[in-house]
Amino acid sequence: MIKFDLQNLYKIVVKHGLSKSDFKSKSNLISDYLKKIHARKQGFYSVIDDENVILGINNFAKSLEGEFQDIVILGIGGSALGTICLQQSLKHLFENEFEEKGVPNLHVIDNIDPELISAIEDIIDYEKTLFIVVTKSGTTPETLAQYFYFRKNCDDKNLDPKKHFVFITDPKNGLLRKIGKLEGIKTFDVPENVGGRFSVLTNVSLLPAKLIGINIEELLKGAKEMRDKFLSEKFEENLPFKLALIQFLLGKKGKIMDVLIPYSQRLIKFADWYRQLLAESIGKAKNEKRETVNIGLTPINALGATDQHSQSQLYNEGPNDKFFIFLNVEDLGGKIEIPNLSPNEESVKFLHKVDFGKLLHIEMQGTIQALTKNDRPNIIITIPEVNEYYLGQLFMLFEGAIAFLGEFYGINAFDQPGVELSKILTKELLGK
Ligand code: PA5
Repeated sequence: MIKFDLQNLYKIVVKHGLSKSDFKSKSNLISDYLKKIHARKQGFYSVIDDENVILGINNFAKSLEGEFQDIVILGIGGSALGTICLQQSLKHLFENEFEEKGVPNLHVIDNIDPELISAIEDIIDYEKTLFIVVTKSGTTPETLAQYFYFRKNCDDKNLDPKKHFVFITDPKNGLLRKIGKLEGIKTFDVPENVGGRFSVLTNVSLLPAKLIGINIEELLKGAKEMRDKFLSEKFEENLPFKLALIQFLLGKKGKIMDVLIPYSQRLIKFADWYRQLLAESIGKAKNEKRETVNIGLTPINALGATDQHSQSQLYNEGPNDKFFIFLNVEDLGGKIEIPNLSPNEESVKFLHKVDFGKLLHIEMQGTIQALTKNDRPNIIITIPEVNEYYLGQLFMLFEGAIAFLGEFYGINAFDQPGVELSKILTKELLGK
């Protein structure tokens, strides 16, 4: 199970920390907030029970077996970040170079930089490539531009779009839905009640994940277990509520930057995924009473131990405006021992015969102790290992926490009016 270590959160340990009483005094809000969350009719915690989704994906994946060498995902934001995270977390760390037998390479094109577009063309063979176009709205200009480009190239090569394209989009609306219907292109749904950044456990990322051999049933099993905790009115059980409460209370004490630091190479993209979730959900100008509040917590993603040599100085001595969430993995895979090549050299003796995993764990402890000494509140979230089951739990833990955080702030965590504005202005500029 996921474990929380909260000892470096309290006032007796760090200045500006929480007292056990202000922490517990809010626990009676759970049931009220759950009611409010249900009233929002969001599906991120219920659509995971829809067995037809798994059935549809599995059948489709079976029909494609051995067909394609490369899969190219065209999508941006919530339509891309979950898939990127799943690939990095659960596949070989050099997956595309590793050539796993029978498993296609997966490339996520989540930008419109022409260098990226032409670079992908350098490495794929159109005849052996499946393009999966992912856009909930079906109107995102970046994704449509990519689709038009790759579609034209396929058409020019006389490749059947019904074979080389799959769409994942809104069940009713948008251009892709229209084209899919008109041309008979296989189209999967993004549930109406699930927004982009909450869609990792829907067709959006489950389909690509399945196609590269990820166990999506286990992913959902983990997610469901955490969902049950999210819906629990018991404070001790409800980890998403606890996490949100900590973020909210510390935010009130001026810790308005939330740093997520996985000590696991596999989880580096989890921090990227979470960055969008926190930023887009909680950064809001207006509260539900339409008062201007301009609230938000700024997410910062980091990676241990790499970023100890990049951001640590700031974290320890810069402004004390941050809260640190360490993501710890107990079992980091097989043991790799550091050999003893300089037995007489005192300065490196501490490294001799130490396992790399142990070194990483100890470096994390050192970083945590330094931050604590410098009065920087931090918590450790530990999972036994990085696999489908625990990743499913992590996704639901952080999604659930964001839903609660929205209620703490009295805002709608599920819209993104600020993103919409820049979309409109870009269109206007192009029109001109
Ligand atoms: O969370 C969100 O809603 C956004 O980040 C979207 O995922 C992003 O803007 C892409 O939108 P769409 O999936 O409609 O193309």
